[in-house]
Amino acid sequence: MDEDLKRFYELYTRRRSVRRFLDKEIEDEKLKRLFDVLRRAQSAANRQPWHFIVVRRRDHGELFSKVFTRGGFEGASVAIVACAEPGKAWVRKADSRNYAWVDVTIAITEMIGAATAEGIGTCWVAAIDPAEVKRLLCIPEEIEVVGIIAMGYPAEPLRREEKNRKPVEEIIHYGRW
Ligand SMILES: Cc1cc2nc3c(=O)[nH]c(=O)nc-3n(C[C@H](O)[C@H](O)[C@H](O)COP(=O)(O)O)c2cc1C
Repeated sequence: MDEDLKRFYELYTRRRSVRRFLDKEIEDEKLKRLFDVLRRAQSAANRQPWHFIVVRRRDHGELFSKVFTRGGFEGASVAIVACAEPGKAWVRKADSRNYAWVDVTIAITEMIGAATAEGIGTCWVAAIDPAEVKRLLCIPEEIEVVGIIAMGYPAEPLRREEKNRKPVEEIIHYGRW
């Protein structure tokens, strides 16, 4: 395996959920690169049914401390509030499944990979109060809050880690269930 490829796969061994952060801002140019990754993400029928609200602790301190309902993320530098717009999303005919949340999740996952490569720690936070977040951030009625991504420089460096995961034989099925 060549070195580039090795580094690529190694990235996925380094990512973990980070809940403790250094008191250090994420640089604007890094954020810009991450936002470009969000923008380029794939989506069903290329509908891009997403919006991302950036709440920086340095600019919106009070809002920042309120959006994470359960606390524990006050040390992060940036919160990305990931929003879906189901009215703009592709809908599968066979079962009327709306793909808005899938598309938002794909974009965020891509961004988390890039953030890991940048040395930035992330945590996906689903345990929030979406109605309260909508009220605080003036999010329109038809928009849904999928989750909030806490981001910042990790208090402990990101490194290779073996996690508690199911074995591959348990989750990969060849040919049939
Ligand atoms: C959709 C989703 C929602 C999550 N919500 C929360 C959350 O509300 N609070 C939290 O502390 N971690 C949350 N996490 C982090 C998971 O607990 C974590 O990904 C899982 O335990 C595996 O650990 P790892 O990310 O370090 O590999 C969430 C992760 C995902 C993917």
